[in-house]
Amino acid sequence: MTTPFTLSYDSGNPLEAEADALILPVRASAAGEPRFEGPVSDANTRLGGELERLAADARFTGKPGSTLVAPTIGQMKTRRVVLTGLGSAESLDTETLRKAWGSAITAVRDAGARAVVSALPAGGDAAVLLEGAVQGALLGAYRFETYFGTVKNEKPALQIESLSFVDDRLDEAAAKTALKRGAAVADAVAVARDLTHEPGGVLSPARVADLAKELAKKAGLDCEIFGPRELARMGAEAILTVGKGSSNEPRMIHLTYKPKDAKKDVRSIGLVGKCITFDTGGYSIKPADAMVDMKGDMAGGAAVLGTMTALKTLGCPYEVHAVICAAENMISGEAFRPDDIIRGMNGVTMEIVSTDAEGRLVLSDGLVYTSKLGVGEMIDLATLTGAKIIALGDETTALYANRDDLAENLLASAKRAGELMWRMPLTEALEGQIKSEIADIKNTGGRPGGSITAALFLQHFSEGLPWAHLDIAGANRTKTGSAYTPKGATGVGVRTLLDYLTEGAQV
Ligand code: BES
Ligand code: MN
Ligand code: ZN
Repeated sequence: MTTPFTLSYDSGNPLEAEADALILPVRASAAGEPRFEGPVSDANTRLGGELERLAADARFTGKPGSTLVAPTIGQMKTRRVVLTGLGSAESLDTETLRKAWGSAITAVRDAGARAVVSALPAGGDAAVLLEGAVQGALLGAYRFETYFGTVKNEKPALQIESLSFVDDRLDEAAAKTALKRGAAVADAVAVARDLTHEPGGVLSPARVADLAKELAKKAGLDCEIFGPRELARMGAEAILTVGKGSSNEPRMIHLTYKPKDAKKDVRSIGLVGKCITFDTGGYSIKPADAMVDMKGDMAGGAAVLGTMTALKTLGCPYEVHAVICAAENMISGEAFRPDDIIRGMNGVTMEIVSTDAEGRLVLSDGLVYTSKLGVGEMIDLATLTGAKIIALGDETTALYANRDDLAENLLASAKRAGELMWRMPLTEALEGQIKSEIADIKNTGGRPGGSITAALFLQHFSEGLPWAHLDIAGANRTKTGSAYTPKGATGVGVRTLLDYLTEGAQV
């Protein structure tokens, strides 16, 4: 992924910088009134108090996500000034910064600005503030335009060309590092968003593997690809079975990140991603309406891949193995059917009740393969069940874990990352619902507790390791968009995992 505009840091006074627009962060009082202080007060003075009057007219609150664009009619060095709210909290967290710069960047873009300068909030660690602001601006400016044709390209969308932060607290090296780190996180999310937007007809399992290889090379990762022959040799019957109905053959992708100067006993973490490049449901075919958007059934794999691209830049201290289980769930004379039985890589046999419960099947091979790599714990991500959407709604990721400390650390990371996550129980009493008469387990447990029984199914392949499962169904895309997440694919999971792999993974 390339950054959509150039980023820089300049030492100086933001009010003296020349550009099309100046972003000024504004704190709010506890009563919800914007506070005109520091550079905001200076700008207001230059504009003869008009900024304050415009803010009052528009009921600008200074809440995170609220913005006000004001013209400066020759009274300032930039033609527009954009106020962006920081809220009233004492200390600024990264989520507030993401919201503030995510909404500011779209406001200045919509106002037609090309060259943009921005101040940073007073107080706090300027490097941390810069990193968060960069993250928010890049996440908010994201667009997927690969398939715009002559109609949409006739008048191309407004585009920012440069964003320069102007402040006097950072030296060049510190600023450069902060810019790089903020961009690394946003670019990792953009990798996941881009892949999730790609249609199934373009993004086959083989294409995912090719892209993974390219990204691995750039990010300094080892990359191993397993095609049908290698999968057969390792006994990955589940991935092969799910992929049988498609002429696009399945792949298992294994990426490895090893930290520099790693001690021998460095902690090793496994990430496993469901990557169904299109889910028709197979012979348990989905109704037409439910099939729309099933190009996004690879979002777990996309999040895992995106995450891997940023580990080196962010200085992840752990060894990380990413295993992406890529297959297409289609229909043909070769496709698998209800009543078929699969033997998992750990010997657990699975009766197929529904070919539409394919995600847990491919993940079974991914989890067992990963467990053999010597990892200390495994985290899988999957757009696994419609039942998760019924239980928690679209936005919230369901977390299941067989260890409390792992669950708590992931919840803390999700919170810092600004991703909604809720822990669900691995209710043992529901185990009976997936018991099979003819094999060990069956691949659906009916509608009651459908997200839980899917997690219980996966638990049979956790191989005694600490394991967490993130059901991201629904959270992988947004119909409404929000401050720094435009409509469409969200790249959910990337920021939580990056937080977890850089500071959250305690123990
Ligand atoms: N990919 C779907 C889950 C899904 C549904 C993701 C809606 C995003 C939005 C998954 O493969 C699936 O079809 N699950 C079935 C399982 C059922 C047959 C037990 C479901 O949820 O209906
Ligand atoms: Mn399905
Ligand atoms: Zn699926």
